[in-house]
Amino acid sequence: MTAPAAMPAPPDFHVADPAARQGITLQGVTKTFQGRKVLDGLDLTIARGETVVIIGRSGEGKSVLLKHIVRLLEPDAGSIWIDGAEVTTLPREGLFEMRKRFGMLFQGAALFDSMTICENVGLGLSEHSGLPPQEVRERACNCLAMVGLAQVEDKLPSELSGGMKKRAGLARAIAMEPDYILYDEPTTGLDPITGDAINDLILKLQQELHVTSVVVTHDMASAFKIADRVAMLNRGRIIYAGSVDEIRNTDHPMVRQFIEGSAHGPLGLF
Ligand SMILES: Nc1ncnc2c1ncn2[C@@H]1O[C@H](COP(=O)(O)OP(=O)(O)O)[C@@H](O)[C@H]1O
Ligand SMILES: [Mg+2]
Repeated sequence: MTAPAAMPAPPDFHVADPAARQGITLQGVTKTFQGRKVLDGLDLTIARGETVVIIGRSGEGKSVLLKHIVRLLEPDAGSIWIDGAEVTTLPREGLFEMRKRFGMLFQGAALFDSMTICENVGLGLSEHSGLPPQEVRERACNCLAMVGLAQVEDKLPSELSGGMKKRAGLARAIAMEPDYILYDEPTTGLDPITGDAINDLILKLQQELHVTSVVVTHDMASAFKIADRVAMLNRGRIIYAGSVDEIRNTDHPMVRQFIEGSAHGPLGLF
């Protein structure tokens, strides 16, 4: 029996002047649900053009973290900054403008069942762009072609497989030509080959559209393939962040246990 490795002190990602930073800055973000502190003074930075992958166990608050970035959830304490503007104090109008710069791929793709794939993808454009319907359709079709779904534009979501729905969700996320894309478990529930096709798409968007991305996943193969940096969420804080090489070689006991997928270690089983 080996002695448990000592737990390293949590890193300090606190930024002195978030108003002067490009990219996303989370400072001391705290959120409690029904007496449980899900986020507990969380600090994290995502630079412009960077892809940061957030890993962590189920229920640790990864989706909650993503929702805070675009203020679908309000923090109890702390602040969030996008390109130097504080999201947490933005008035309604400013918040809507800010959200237009974001594409979001939610868990389960969240397509509207009664609308065709093309209508789903073009929804943001028809509501916000002022483009005529024909042009909206054309742009939606272009986005569908980008994700390899050119043939299904007039089908309903129920006629598509899980992988196709994720890709349609991705087409919708890019239709507004966002500066940022937030992905919530883009490969979860897909077979490894379809999952890898999604990884390739994420890489392509990064390279061709230079988007800044935050990707939540517990798929380590995906994380290693797409990340510039990987950050691990545990007990409400980012306990580690590093490049793919750094995280592969870290001796941080919780990170090692997670990336090796072991039931034994400091994270425990439950
Ligand atoms: N809107 C909400 N109201 C109440 N509790 C919530 C809400 N959203 C998330 N939670 C709780 O916060 C915790 C973290 O959830 P979540 O971010 O979905 O975890 P993860 O995405 O890491 O699996 C869970 O215990 C969940 O039940
Ligand atoms: Mg989640």
